[in-house]
Amino acid sequence: MTIRVGIIGCGSIANQRHAPEYANHPHVELAFVYDPNPERAARLAERFGGKVAKSWEEIVDHPHVDAISDCSTNEMHHIITTRALRAGKHVLCEKPIATTREGAKTIIDAAAASGKILMIDHNQRLVAAHEMARQMLQEGEIGKVLSFKTNFGHKGPEYWSVNATNSTWFFKKSRSALGVAGDLGIHKVDLLRFLLDEDIVEVSAYAGALDKKDEQGKPIEVFDNMVCILRTESGAIGTASFSWTYYGDEDNSTVLYGDKGMMKIFASPDADIEVVKTTGERKQSKVGAIQTNDNQTTSGVIDAFIQAIQQNSRPVITGEDGMRALEIIQAAVESAESGKSVSTLPGEG
Ligand SMILES: NC(=O)c1ccc[n+]([C@@H]2O[C@H](COP(=O)([O-])OP(=O)(O)OC[C@H]3O[C@@H](n4cnc5c(N)ncnc54)[C@H](O)[C@@H]3O)[C@@H](O)[C@H]2O)c1
Repeated sequence: MTIRVGIIGCGSIANQRHAPEYANHPHVELAFVYDPNPERAARLAERFGGKVAKSWEEIVDHPHVDAISDCSTNEMHHIITTRALRAGKHVLCEKPIATTREGAKTIIDAAAASGKILMIDHNQRLVAAHEMARQMLQEGEIGKVLSFKTNFGHKGPEYWSVNATNSTWFFKKSRSALGVAGDLGIHKVDLLRFLLDEDIVEVSAYAGALDKKDEQGKPIEVFDNMVCILRTESGAIGTASFSWTYYGDEDNSTVLYGDKGMMKIFASPDADIEVVKTTGERKQSKVGAIQTNDNQTTSGVIDAFIQAIQQNSRPVITGEDGMRALEIIQAAVESAESGKSVSTLPGEG
């Protein structure tokens, strides 16, 4: 059965991942695309197919559309994704699921009421090295994880966004809401939950708008750097750093320290995963690079979304996963603003 898909928002993520991966999928027809900037929509349609719709509502209400990718800007997700689910479409929603917990809850409730698939694009879970690392951790390769550090940083969204200037929406509080924390940090807290198979319960963070300037030359309204200390349910403690000012190489590494050794993921020049045991034994695995801004590889997200639709199965990243990642990142922002350690569990201040 062919699944007819619409893409809403034709910026960088739609061009780099959603549209090419739909276009390559044997069971997908890219039926419609929409962007408030009609030239962007036309360019995407020309490269990958589909008709240009006049509005996003036209796509979500269209009887011949089965599923949509919500690649709009953060502040629109809870509006577009909710409306699409209520109209009976399956939705692959970009991260962050929403800019507020209430927005995320509206989306999750709409998915539950419609019975349609809702998947959130925390694509780091589908990176082969991360899947393999989780498997190795579950098999006890490094024993019980006691501590960890994870980093995600690059030179900033003004080098990535389709609007490659410092007037990008990523720098506006009303649109991005959570700055670098909602852009890069949310990926890493979701990844930690996935790798460790447990939740993050407490966070303490420092953050600032240290370097980026808006189009008026003023410091941006959101954080461009954040460093967190995290505590998990089982008591493991670690750090997580997120940055839009890593001006040399991009960093997307994670290191886990267990009571039987350590595991480096994208943190060794020689291997994608390197395990070093307490005995000194060293195991190196090459399983494929992670996508970077300059080097896009197939994310696997579209395959996973389409498979969940075809099999009517639970998607690999659920709305609830998106909500937890948002709650943890909101707690980190609150900690940075208040100077206090914050529980990530709603209702526990
Ligand atoms: N999963 C990932 O790794 C990843 C990577 C980058 C971005 N993203 C997410 O994807 C989303 C889009 O980011 P991007 O990098 O493509 O940004 P971008 O700036 O390149 O593009 C955003 C696009 O959204 C369009 N848009 C604005 N308002 C809209 C509306 N009301 N309806 C529909 N489209 C609208 C803009 O015109 C623009 O073309 C964001 O939520 C972002 O967080 C995810």
